[in-house]
Amino acid sequence: MTEKKLWWQTGVVYQIYPRSYMDTTTSGMGDLPGISAKLDYLSETLGVDAIWLSPFYPSPMKDFGYDVADYCNVDPRFGTLADFDELLTNAHQRGIKLIIDWVPNHSSDQHPWFIESRSSRNSPKRDWYVWRDPKFDENGNKLPPNNWQSLFGGIAWEWDEKTAQYYLHSFVKEQPDLNWRNPEVQAAMYETLRFWLKRGVDGFRVDVAHFIMKDPALRDNPPAQIKGAAMHRSHGDAYDSQSHIHDHGHPDSHPIYKEVRKILDEYSQTSPRVSVGEIHIFEFEKLAEFYGTPEEGMEFHLPFNFSLLKVAWHAAQFRAQVDAYEAALPAWATPNYVLGNHDEGRIATRYGEMQSRVAAMMLLTLRGTPTIYYGEELGMTDVLVPPEKRLDPYGLSVPEHGRDRCRTPMQWDSTKNAGFSKAETDALWLPIAENFTHKNVATELADPRSHLALYRQLLALRKESEALQHGTYRSLDTVPNVFLYERQSENETLLIALNFSEKKQDLALEGNILLSTYLDNKANPQTLRPHEGLIIQKL
Ligand code: GLC
Repeated sequence: MTEKKLWWQTGVVYQIYPRSYMDTTTSGMGDLPGISAKLDYLSETLGVDAIWLSPFYPSPMKDFGYDVADYCNVDPRFGTLADFDELLTNAHQRGIKLIIDWVPNHSSDQHPWFIESRSSRNSPKRDWYVWRDPKFDENGNKLPPNNWQSLFGGIAWEWDEKTAQYYLHSFVKEQPDLNWRNPEVQAAMYETLRFWLKRGVDGFRVDVAHFIMKDPALRDNPPAQIKGAAMHRSHGDAYDSQSHIHDHGHPDSHPIYKEVRKILDEYSQTSPRVSVGEIHIFEFEKLAEFYGTPEEGMEFHLPFNFSLLKVAWHAAQFRAQVDAYEAALPAWATPNYVLGNHDEGRIATRYGEMQSRVAAMMLLTLRGTPTIYYGEELGMTDVLVPPEKRLDPYGLSVPEHGRDRCRTPMQWDSTKNAGFSKAETDALWLPIAENFTHKNVATELADPRSHLALYRQLLALRKESEALQHGTYRSLDTVPNVFLYERQSENETLLIALNFSEKKQDLALEGNILLSTYLDNKANPQTLRPHEGLIIQKL
């Protein structure tokens, strides 16, 4: 008997960056009613099961919404709470779950909590953030309390003239870190979860979840063993020169996420609520700790697995990551995979057009929950935003890593502004990719071999296939440059063969071809064509 699984264990999540999905107000920026208007696309055309929205909270937008000024409201630029409720109702009517972003590590410096906190050393909210006295060198010059660096460049401490102390900010200076060691902060933040759970949201994606607890003594980070080894993205020399053992990832975050899980469980009687953790930890044993344990308490349903984002396009490397990850997870844990998001280059640019089709087949056929980034289904590419139009604070400090390039507006059709907005083109918050004339929903819907056609078929197949939904995973030895694996359930065995090379590969497999990334009827289980992925049903 196949064990019954919950929606987040079999479903596909689709990430929407609200600023870039659909503009209904001609502001040049997307909004919540715009997402509501596209629900049929999501449920019928694509057939995804859940959407995750990047932040829509009131925000000064210093980090495009990840600087939250009110955890329990909607920024007027995105709409109103009523628009949110309508979106939720409309999504639920179509069977789509809604996951929202929760940003616990830091608020905006314009959040009333921080305004109060910085007003005086005696403020009742002083200890809601991380304030420290300066250190002094031998000449009496003021120094920050330790050597921690902001991920976005520069030291992680900002001097507050009025109260003569530094506050900690792991990201931009307008994103002060909350002090999660203060029980009042914990209680206030848990209330924000309840606020949205009561409204009916189906879960949270927890922003930089491993950052909330730091070394209580705020010790200096030691120098990096291997430069840049801690994170796959380079954050600049000063950041990469340290081993980040004290400024985040402290084990004290685990009890917090056990508590978060209890809150989610309280609201899960009618429908299971889910937490997805943004955790940039690449040692799988450590990442797996964020699932919690049945004995000591559960934590995240899905601690994001970012491992595939950091490997080069080689079959052996992808196989090694997937195998090691599968081996590290407890048997009851649901794996998850993601290949792109609002912080990373798009897969069609990172890997190439044909390769990204193979990547899509992999993403949607591995065991566990996949997350698709909006536009990935069209083969949307990065846009090199000209320096004068760049907005991302991260991109400003490390330009080659700027994230504007993967946040450009969704491409709906070949009309003005790709059908995203009726605003003047130069009023769009970010420019549209030039290739929108052919890479867009309308054009691709009319093309039976398009990227979109491939995603639709993959999503449909996944829904129908017992092996893809419930089956085991096992990788198989084969020729170099091919990643071959088997998904097996009680009544079905599928082989997935992914050619990572530009040459044909003779494999001599047998079975019925269910899908080729070429979307033609010329596929042959004996030979994979260049950059071809096949799903083969074993007879
Ligand atoms: C996460 C978000 C990123 C944001 C950062 C700070 O990494 O995905 O967009 O800049 O946290 O909140």
